[in-house]
Amino acid sequence: NWSMDDFIDLQIAQIRETVGDKKVLLGLSGGVDSSVVGVLLHKAIGSQLTSIFVDHGLLRKGEAKQVMDSLEGKFGLNIVQVNAQDRFLSKLAGVTEPEKKRKIIGNEFIQVFNDEAQKLDGIDFLAQGTLYTDVIESGTDTAQTIKSHHNVGGLPEDMHFQLIEPLRSLFKDEARELGEKLGMPSELVWRQPFPGPGLGIRVLGEITPEKLQIVRDSDLILREEIKKAGLDRDIWQYFTVLPNIKSVGVMGDGRTYDYAVGIRAVTSIDGMTADFAHIPWDVLQDISVRIVNEVEHVNRILYDVTSKPPSTIEWE
Ligand code: XMP
Repeated sequence: NWSMDDFIDLQIAQIRETVGDKKVLLGLSGGVDSSVVGVLLHKAIGSQLTSIFVDHGLLRKGEAKQVMDSLEGKFGLNIVQVNAQDRFLSKLAGVTEPEKKRKIIGNEFIQVFNDEAQKLDGIDFLAQGTLYTDVIESGTDTAQTIKSHHNVGGLPEDMHFQLIEPLRSLFKDEARELGEKLGMPSELVWRQPFPGPGLGIRVLGEITPEKLQIVRDSDLILREEIKKAGLDRDIWQYFTVLPNIKSVGVMGDGRTYDYAVGIRAVTSIDGMTADFAHIPWDVLQDISVRIVNEVEHVNRILYDVTSKPPSTIEWE
């Protein structure tokens, strides 16, 4: 009879045997999977694990701090935090094509990761948060080939590490259960999926610091209100997007000409298909009022009522 406790004991024993007295590197994204791998490995091999956390400036509000406070502060992981915001923003300046933006972010991520990894000596293993679904989707034995364009943590080709993928046999909900068993806080374990390119694909078209701030601030309000309404576990993903539309509004007795912000919220089992979430009107109203009042340069809120297919979950 399979239990999560047995799984943990078995994985820890296996990791210790594989790694011996060697060193392991982990790319932390802030997401559930890599965080769970980090905590599990730290439990197994302690200071033989070094993690790299690249902040590309496209994270949600408070995200970098939350990851560091929890994984470094509470769990004691040794994390190299790389503040690469300027590097990413300057590479992305003027770029409007979604696929081009994705490629730039993915490539830059690998380069930053490489640069940091090269500063570390004597690493033999690279740990990854590959799940069973990633293995299936890849159709091959090594998961990183499929999603490398899609997953910012893709393994650079010229790195010759041995892979450690302790979640390879788990589904997402099992990875979450594992995280809970390891004592991880529920904000981390129950976090909604977040794409590797981050807010970069939620600011449609050109990315600027001002637009990023609008998405970041409105997204935080949305998250707060969804949580307050008790809907956070029922909705697969919920976030705001900035669709590059300006429209006329009125504030006090003045005319405004400002941005519209879109709300995207979907229910889903695996992200492959999705339905738009039926958020109650009064919750939507609270969200709308707060975003318009609290976020500068926003005077209109839109709700996305398309499912996947024909839409996708992200807008880019
Ligand atoms: P779409 O927009 O294709 O998204 O319906 C399906 C799911 O995948 C996430 N997503 C990504 N995840 N890197 C990721 O790690 C990416 O480049 C990426 N693009 C989309 C999306 O948030 C949704 O959960």
